[in-house]
Amino acid sequence: MMMRIILIIIVSLLTGLQAQARERKCFDKDWRFILADSVQMSEANYNDGFWRRLNVPHDWAIEGDFHAGNPSGAGGGALPGGVGWYRKHFEVKSDEVKSEKFFLEFDGVYMNSTVYVNGQKVGSRPYGYSSFEYDITPYVHEGENVVAVRVDNSDQPNSRWYSGCGIYRHVWLTRTNAIHVKHWGVYVHDGRVEVDYENPTGQKVMVKNTWLDANGRPTSIRKPRKWSCEDPYIYKVRTQLISGGKVVDEVETVTGFRDFHFDAKTGFWLNGKNFKLNGVCEHHDFGCLGAALSEDALHRKLVKLKAMGVNAIRSSHNPPAPELLAMCDTMGLIVMDESFDMWRRRKTQNDYARFFDEWHERDLTDLVLRDRNHPCILMWSIGNEVLEQWSSAEADTLTLEQANLILNAGHDASTLAKDGELSVQSLLTQHLAEIVKRYDTTRPITAGCNEPSPGNHLFKSGAIDIIGFNYHHQWVKDVPQNFPGKPFIFSESVSALQTRGYYMMPSDSIYKAPKEWWLPYTDPSFMCSAYDNMHASWSSTHEETWDVVKHTPYVGGQFIWTGFDYIGEPTPYGFPARSSYFGIIDLAGFPKDSYYMYQSEWTKQPMLHLFPHWNWLPGQTIDMWAYYNNADEVELFINGKSQGVHRKDEHTYHVMWRIQFEPGEVKAVSRKGGKTVCEQTIRTAGQPAAIRLSMDYQGKDLCFVYADIVDAQGNLCPWAENQLYFTASDGAQVVAADNGCQTSMERFTAPQRKAFFGRCMVVVRGRGTLKAQAMGLGETKLKIED
Ligand code: GAL
Repeated sequence: MMMRIILIIIVSLLTGLQAQARERKCFDKDWRFILADSVQMSEANYNDGFWRRLNVPHDWAIEGDFHAGNPSGAGGGALPGGVGWYRKHFEVKSDEVKSEKFFLEFDGVYMNSTVYVNGQKVGSRPYGYSSFEYDITPYVHEGENVVAVRVDNSDQPNSRWYSGCGIYRHVWLTRTNAIHVKHWGVYVHDGRVEVDYENPTGQKVMVKNTWLDANGRPTSIRKPRKWSCEDPYIYKVRTQLISGGKVVDEVETVTGFRDFHFDAKTGFWLNGKNFKLNGVCEHHDFGCLGAALSEDALHRKLVKLKAMGVNAIRSSHNPPAPELLAMCDTMGLIVMDESFDMWRRRKTQNDYARFFDEWHERDLTDLVLRDRNHPCILMWSIGNEVLEQWSSAEADTLTLEQANLILNAGHDASTLAKDGELSVQSLLTQHLAEIVKRYDTTRPITAGCNEPSPGNHLFKSGAIDIIGFNYHHQWVKDVPQNFPGKPFIFSESVSALQTRGYYMMPSDSIYKAPKEWWLPYTDPSFMCSAYDNMHASWSSTHEETWDVVKHTPYVGGQFIWTGFDYIGEPTPYGFPARSSYFGIIDLAGFPKDSYYMYQSEWTKQPMLHLFPHWNWLPGQTIDMWAYYNNADEVELFINGKSQGVHRKDEHTYHVMWRIQFEPGEVKAVSRKGGKTVCEQTIRTAGQPAAIRLSMDYQGKDLCFVYADIVDAQGNLCPWAENQLYFTASDGAQVVAADNGCQTSMERFTAPQRKAFFGRCMVVVRGRGTLKAQAMGLGETKLKIED
């Protein structure tokens, strides 16, 4: 009996301890939306009954049509902007209203959002990439409440790439007690935990931190397991605020342990291991899904990049979605977390420069506070190619396309810093670095600079810990002399130009597009060459920069522009091109051939990639390339006849055969010590005969399915352009489609798509049956089940 009473007391004490802690709810469901604007839309009893119902994350621009007249221009993706409103009705129950605090948190709204609760203005946030939270306690009441959000992306252009429009990341509603941990109030570093909390009550509060292992079990950190790319081991800290014998608040923070440094002579080190940062720059869009965050789309991207051998991501040129960082934590991807693409000097007419003076401190502070516990982040970038690198470099009078180009132009030496003088630009650099260091001193600061001279005002400030240039691989040899004792990385590199499936021969000629940054470039094909033989005037081929990185010990690594194609910035073309050519993977998620060059260099998995396809005119001279690893040589055969054996050397990354096309099959065989390592055969395809559907990535919510046009034998038809139509049933739904073609004017959200070099991709929500049809090719079905 006595035992039972003690047990009951313990249990009730424990439940008493737990009962009052915070509740954080996802607030994504059941919003109403309209693409229109009126002041009345903020009002509590405004009639929104006829508005469209949807869940966020949402991007209204991706649902629109491409048009030369859309004010974002081709540089912004030629999709619409405008003003939109979102409203959400929500119930606060009588027991909930007893909570002392209510917070509404937005991970990102592009852009210029203003939030109202029950008709009262709560706050505004111009920067579309910042996460922010409002204390809405004074405005909520028991019963029905309504949140209204005005999103204004009408002042265009305001970005050098596609931004998307709307509440494009998650929203959260949090209830806490009066005593609570502040937003981003926990800072874990060097095994210590600092907790910033609110206590308006004057009651005594005890802070209790418990270390948890990756499975959530209490653990010791005396000898912590290190976080690395191969073993991204995560710890958590459970923080409890205890007052009056009760846990009044509880939050969990993900963290990890790792030792790293950048060395001026030897480059990058993590946990005592010296290796290169094999990084890519990524914009935030998800191709045909637009900017609307989808964990599945994000994970698919990261999985593909990892399989290529990528170990680092640069969130160019803005704060990423929190989910990107959470995934990089657990997937072992290192992150350069970047804040801005411009400071006070604008690059496009209406960009963030107009808000910089008022908002930079808040936005930069919030970025560091939000992200500083992530083990994956190993450096902060305070800006990309900001025009403050020079004394005077106004872009005010330029068009968006010109602005994109001028960033890479040579600048007059008179615009560089003078010796012995700290310019305002250098002082601004110091000021931004100081903001970062105020909240985190455990990571170095860098910036993406396209002025490689030490006279660059940013470098001159002394506040940049890691010298980072964009491009200018020819200047790397001068780094030790120009920046004695400073570590170096390519904050951005390459910018090769490629269209998947399109090959410009001879493949050993390098095509520059444009030849000089100020010259226009035109080609009626609106395509770029998928051999690694085409790049912009300021940039290089993939192989050229990799050769410098690989063979220069003091280069800590590179962030290639870019991993995936993105919407906007279709250099070297203008409209109707509306998405980029820079990606190693196209917008639909199909790897371009260079993907395999990196795989051969950056991974240990034996691989061989032979290209291009084998459908040419009889007698046509064709360059066949192969990327390979783990082998000494590759031999090529056409219809069984050897075309010779080729080998790479220390500075070459592919082998090539110049041969005459004859229909049949081409085969490559790689060998090590005389033994076959890999083989690849490509056959000449006949007429298109069928559609082949295959699952590229099956996520929890979204599935990405490849639709290939094949001949009667199942060979991919590399020139096929058939129009495909998609329908889904049994619970599934077609969401969007793409083919990676930079000039396609088909609407991304339409359930149809033309094949591009034989392939396209369709995104399906849920589980059920997908059907693809095309004139003359019949129909193919794919059952999607768990
Ligand atoms: C860089 C810039 C990137 C992108 C790239 C294209 O100068 O940082 O945002 O514009 O050029 O080559």
